[in-house]
Amino acid sequence: MRKPFIAGNWKMNTDSAGAVALAAGLAKELSSVDTVDVAVCPPFVYLQSVAAALSASNVALGSQNVYFEEKGAFTGEISCAMLKDTSCAYAIIGHSERRHVMGETDAMINKKISAAISGGLLPIFCVGELLEDRQGGTTNEVVASQIKNGLEGICAESVQAVTVAYEPVWAIGTGLTATPEQAQEVHAMIRGLLTELYGNEIAQAIRIQYGGSAKPSNTAELMAQPDVDGLLVGGASLKVEDFAAMIKTIA
Ligand code: 13P
Repeated sequence: MRKPFIAGNWKMNTDSAGAVALAAGLAKELSSVDTVDVAVCPPFVYLQSVAAALSASNVALGSQNVYFEEKGAFTGEISCAMLKDTSCAYAIIGHSERRHVMGETDAMINKKISAAISGGLLPIFCVGELLEDRQGGTTNEVVASQIKNGLEGICAESVQAVTVAYEPVWAIGTGLTATPEQAQEVHAMIRGLLTELYGNEIAQAIRIQYGGSAKPSNTAELMAQPDVDGLLVGGASLKVEDFAAMIKTIA
């Protein structure tokens, strides 16, 4: 049985005091939740203060990105070792805003996934189609290609560190949520592809999150789908009461 996994992607939001208050509020609200894995992914500059606010809580820490080189002349980038050093367990990789705003390619994402696993981080590997892909009927093709390219060369043992996050780009920050049926259809396709690549046992164990305007009011229906194992939450993860409500719905 896959344990549900909910992660909050704070994106480029909060400030120093707000990040700590949000983390401390979640630590308190979620102190009795142990049936759901929870993580928050603050901006890099607040990782250390959020880590302190989460110490002794059951909320884990993640980053929103990572670079694949170990160290050196890569101005502005952050390594896996640096993230481990700030208590990060997870790293979001290949978020649609990284792909479509910052120009990250499947090849870069593949290197990041590989570096994260070698460096002891658990990748949250994001995939998802654009509105034009969905309207053109190529959703499955686009997402399958992102999965295959992103996981190229990742062996069966390593892939077990990965959580896949299906985030249809047209549903991110727009208030448009994929219907539970639309989410399930793509999640089932992804699990089928993972089965082809890694076999049934591993594919059944990998968690697939949905992301895109997930909020307290649609959490139960999304999570009721057999292949939706969790949520990657943007806007609704910025309020203690909303994010905690979603987790308690699932717990
Ligand atoms: P929203 O929940 O704000 O739509 O963002 C989803 C997302 O991109 C999480 O990574």
